[in-house]
Amino acid sequence: MKALILSGGKGSRLYPLTYTNAKQLIPVANKPVLFRVIEAIHDAGIIDIGIIIGDDDNGKRVREAVGQGRRWQVNITYIVQEAPLGLAHCVSIAGDFLGDDRFVMFLGDNVIEGGISNLIRKFENSDTNSQIVLTPVSEPQHYGVAELNPDQSIKKLVEKPRDPRSNLALVGIYMFDPTIHEAVRAITPSWRGELEITDAIQWLVEQNYKVHPYIHRGWWIDTGKPIDMLAANAKVLEELTPRIEGFVDRDSQVDERVTIEAGAEIVNSVVRGPTIIGENTRIVNSYVGPFTSIYHDCQIENAEIEYSLILEHSTISNVHTRITDSLIGRNVKVAHSELKPQAIKLTLGDNSQLGLI
Ligand code: DAU
Repeated sequence: MKALILSGGKGSRLYPLTYTNAKQLIPVANKPVLFRVIEAIHDAGIIDIGIIIGDDDNGKRVREAVGQGRRWQVNITYIVQEAPLGLAHCVSIAGDFLGDDRFVMFLGDNVIEGGISNLIRKFENSDTNSQIVLTPVSEPQHYGVAELNPDQSIKKLVEKPRDPRSNLALVGIYMFDPTIHEAVRAITPSWRGELEITDAIQWLVEQNYKVHPYIHRGWWIDTGKPIDMLAANAKVLEELTPRIEGFVDRDSQVDERVTIEAGAEIVNSVVRGPTIIGENTRIVNSYVGPFTSIYHDCQIENAEIEYSLILEHSTISNVHTRITDSLIGRNVKVAHSELKPQAIKLTLGDNSQLGLI
């Protein structure tokens, strides 16, 4: 089997972070989501991986970060998509790479509990043409939605319906045999101008091909929006096996669910897990609360922060209000200012969001 990871798209719901980085490269518990996807595929025994990237700077960034895949002992082939024309469009441009092989298609911004080894084994040992993964969600209108028959076979699949007929969302992990190429050729763009993979699978159902719906019962998060990124971060942190590789001074309290990476320093601070402090990051006179990931080379001094994600080379110092539920990008500086007037002074990128009290 082969794998196709979709890592193109604009990531507009995560602006401004995605102006200068691909959303799939944003770390969750200090590891890019895309790396987690590659690891899940490798753990399922697949080594030939195609990655769809955009014809833009974010595409180049993915290529630089992942390289040829030697770190994971996989072979990566890059497929450049000229514009985000839809998930089924990705399958059609990957035709040469996929050939007549069965494959798993994995959306590069999805994080799922328990990996995909079981799913792959089930599909490999079956004669089904496609296997899709469904899970109950509270707001199905934001996803592809499946309506099942009483015998659990698929009745209908609809992409982001206004009035969902069920609460079963399509998870971004799909398994196909070569019949999907016929389906992709048969469909036309949706109202949003994209070739939808949901429509291609609906076509397979209508042609009486075998499409097996697998119901996933663990957690699954599509990291499309900041709030989802924080939720994914929390879930993954809960599963981490803690380790202390950095330095903790005698005046600090660090509980057992905290990971401190090499070269990090905790000085006169309280850190409560599950939390991860990245390489060469310094936490001084501060409180870092549960469900926080601070990436490498950051400085937190005289500040309090929890349930947040902070990317590399950022500094938070002398902030007297606790920061929570926040997604902070790279090279950001948040600091108390002594200069008059005593007011909040901001330099925010386009599409930033600020929640004041
Ligand atoms: O996450 C699950 C959902 O993913 C499914 O329930 C939906 O049925 C499916 O259409 C998809 O919906 P989204 O609106 O969340 O898809 P999004 O545009 O965020 O794209 C998903 C991933 O694929 C993302 O990593 C970007 C990449 N992508 C997307 C498009 C449209 C590409 O590489 N090329 C594209 O043309």
